[in-house]
Amino acid sequence: MLSIEDNEYLTKIGPGTPMGTLFRRYWMPFLMSSELPGPDCDPLRVRLLGEDLVAFRDTNGNVGLLDNYCPHRRASLFFGRNEECGLRCVYHGWKFDVDGNCVDMPSEPAESNFKDKVHVTSYPTQDWGGVLWAYLGPQDQTPELPQLEWARVPEDHRFVTKRRQETNWAQGVEGGVDSSHVSFLHRVFADVQEMKAGKDGFLVQRPIYMIQDKSPKFFVRDTPYGFAIGARRNAEEGHYYWRFSQVMMPAYTIIPSAAGRYLTGHAWVPIDDENCWAFTFSWHPDRPLTEEELEIFRAGDQNHAVVDPITFRNFANADNDYLIDREMQRNYNYTGVRGVGTQDTAIQESMGPITGRSKEHLGTSDTAMIYWRRLMIDLAKAVMDGAEARGAKDGEAYRIRGGAMVLPHDADPFETSRTELLATS
Ligand code: FES
Ligand SMILES: [Fe+2]
Repeated sequence: MLSIEDNEYLTKIGPGTPMGTLFRRYWMPFLMSSELPGPDCDPLRVRLLGEDLVAFRDTNGNVGLLDNYCPHRRASLFFGRNEECGLRCVYHGWKFDVDGNCVDMPSEPAESNFKDKVHVTSYPTQDWGGVLWAYLGPQDQTPELPQLEWARVPEDHRFVTKRRQETNWAQGVEGGVDSSHVSFLHRVFADVQEMKAGKDGFLVQRPIYMIQDKSPKFFVRDTPYGFAIGARRNAEEGHYYWRFSQVMMPAYTIIPSAAGRYLTGHAWVPIDDENCWAFTFSWHPDRPLTEEELEIFRAGDQNHAVVDPITFRNFANADNDYLIDREMQRNYNYTGVRGVGTQDTAIQESMGPITGRSKEHLGTSDTAMIYWRRLMIDLAKAVMDGAEARGAKDGEAYRIRGGAMVLPHDADPFETSRTELLATS
C-alpha cells in the first residue's frame, strides 16, 4: 500500500508537481503520425500532462504544438486557420508559426512592432517511429529520443494503435509491471493435456507454465533506462520458465515474447490526472508483420483494441460493461471480455480513475509493482532536488528487448541472491 500522500505524489502530473516535473524531462509520444496526415491538415486538440494544447502540421510538414489559448484574448487556436506556415486565430487574425512566434497581426497598424513581442507557448516535436513526440520540459534539459526498438524498425515491421484509458497513467504501468495477472485476467480455458498433446514447441508451452504455476517469484534489477523484471515460474524438472520485461522511464512497458515471435509494448502517456493514452506497439525486429498478424491486431485481439476513430475510446467501454459475455466467461475465457487490451482497460478502469492505494493488501506477487512505485517516487524527488532524470540523456540505453525462455535452475540469469534482496528492500 501507499499512504494517501504518496499516492498523490505518484499520480499527479500537472505543471509544478514532482511527478509532472519528472515526466517533463522526456520526449513523449502524443499522437500517431497519421493523425496529422499532411501539410496544412486540420489542427487537433491535444491534452497532455494536464495542459490544453493544439497540434498542427504546417505547409512545410513541420509539426507545431502550441498552447490552446491565443495570447491575445485567449480564444482557442483549435478553431484556427492552418495556412501558409502558421496557425491563424480566427478571432482577430493573429498568426503563429510552429515555434510560437507571432508572424502576422493584422488587427494592429502596419508600422506596429507589437507582434515581435508576442509569443504563444510552443513545445518542440519530432515525427519518428510512427508517432509524434513532444518535449514539455525546460530547453536546457532537452533529452535524447529513447531508441526503442519499435521506433527503429522499418515501417512495415511495426503496427501502432492507441486507446484512451479513463484512469491515471500509473494504473496502466502497474498492469504492465504485474506479470502475475496474466495467469488470471487473460486466461483462455483449454485443457492443458490437450495442448501438450496437440502441438509441442515453445509457443504452445508458454501459457502452460503460466497456468500451472500461478505464483511467480519476482526479481528486480535497476538499470540505466529504468528497471528490469524477471518473473520465474516452475517448468519441467530442474528448469524454470522465465519472463523478462523492462519498465523504461518514464512509462514504457514491454510484454515478454517467445523467441521468433513479434513483440508488443506500451507507452502510458498521461493526458491528465484521470486519463491516459495507452499507445500499443507491435513489431518484429527481423521481418515485416504478416497479414495474419495484422488482422489479429485490427480485430482488437491481443493487446490492441478497436476504438472510435475520433475519440480513440474503446467501443467496448464502461458504458456497456466492455461487452462482457457471461456465457463466454463460463466456457471460454476468464473475463468474458474480448481482447487482452480491452481486458486490461476494463479491469484498470474498474478500480476508479485514481485507485485508492492506501486501501490495498499487497502480496509477494506485487513485489515488482511495489518496487516500481518506490522508484518513481524517489526519482521524482531526486529531480525536484536537481538531479538528472534517469535515462533522459541516454537514448541508447533503451535498446533492449523483453523475452521468455526456459532455463535450467543453475542458469540464474538474474543473480537472484542479489536482486531478490533489492526487490524486498
Ligand atoms: S483572441 Fe486570438 S487574435 Fe484575438
Ligand atoms: Fe494485461
